[in-house]
Amino acid sequence: MSGIPDLTALAAEAVALITEAPDLEALEAARVRFLGRRAPLTELLGSIGTLAPDERGRVGRDGNAARRAIEDALDGRRGHLEAQAMGAALEADMADVTLPGNGHALGALHPITQVRLEVEDIFLGMGYAVADGPEVETGFNNFTALNTPDGHPARSESDTFFIEGGTDVLLRTQTSPVQIRTMQAGPPPVYVIAPGTVYRRDDVDATHSPMFHQVEGLAVDEGLSFAHLKGTITYFLQQLLGDREVRVIPHFFPFTEPSVDVSVAWTDGHGRTDWLEVAGAGMVDPNVFANVGYDPERWTGFAFGFGLDRIAMVRHGIADIRLLYEGDLRFLGQFP
Ligand code: PHE
Repeated sequence: MSGIPDLTALAAEAVALITEAPDLEALEAARVRFLGRRAPLTELLGSIGTLAPDERGRVGRDGNAARRAIEDALDGRRGHLEAQAMGAALEADMADVTLPGNGHALGALHPITQVRLEVEDIFLGMGYAVADGPEVETGFNNFTALNTPDGHPARSESDTFFIEGGTDVLLRTQTSPVQIRTMQAGPPPVYVIAPGTVYRRDDVDATHSPMFHQVEGLAVDEGLSFAHLKGTITYFLQQLLGDREVRVIPHFFPFTEPSVDVSVAWTDGHGRTDWLEVAGAGMVDPNVFANVGYDPERWTGFAFGFGLDRIAMVRHGIADIRLLYEGDLRFLGQFP
């Protein structure tokens, strides 16, 4: 009967093509071709009513059977292709657990912290304790008790950061107030160092910063002399910096008498060898003992104050103090 396609052949052709469809795109093309709105089978099934009455049953049955066969083939092939696509995606996405991970660089202690810990070790080895105190101090602890009365130039606005306008609360200009606190806390003998941050209204240059670090030390005992002071400082510098020329010259500090300045030889940023002042020191002034209730007739003592930043500079050949505060990893990375 002409006009009616061979449904068995049509279904066979469709199923063969679908089974071979290489991908989902080809599969969709096949679906449109055999089951789309314009497909011969769809048109045939849609026009059954126009067929001769005795053909309608057979054509309807065979047509629907063909459509089901094609639909089954489509479903089967689609499932297969989708599973394949999923497998490929998973494989492409797979993590290779044998690859090295993304490492995180290990941090390190700041060079000033490293030097502070070394300094603490050396003094702990000499029997000193490590003491701590606040960075916001009273005028009494930072100055008055240290024989620096009101009106002394070091107390003026030009050197000191005062808190809230007055002159009674300030950012400590030295860690010497920790020595006052230590002496007020108990009787001699005292062997203590006080590392910490201090503040002064200094202009910034290669060797000055308004915020820097000190390690001050205090020894109070019977019979201490300048020889003990010099021996302690020499031993300490030798331990920390190795054999290096050390210069000790007279100086003045309100809280020590006699007082000295301690410098070490170093090479500055211009390649010049020069002295760099690294500490002030001296024999504790009897007035300081009187201020904290120690008997100046019985007790003797020496004190010293090192600039940690400068010691770090000498130690590591750092020509500019500002490098220590800029947080530049290219610099800091050199101190693992
Ligand atoms: N406190 C002094 C300063 O900051 C250093 C120092 C400490 C000097 C102890 C003598 C004795 O400059």
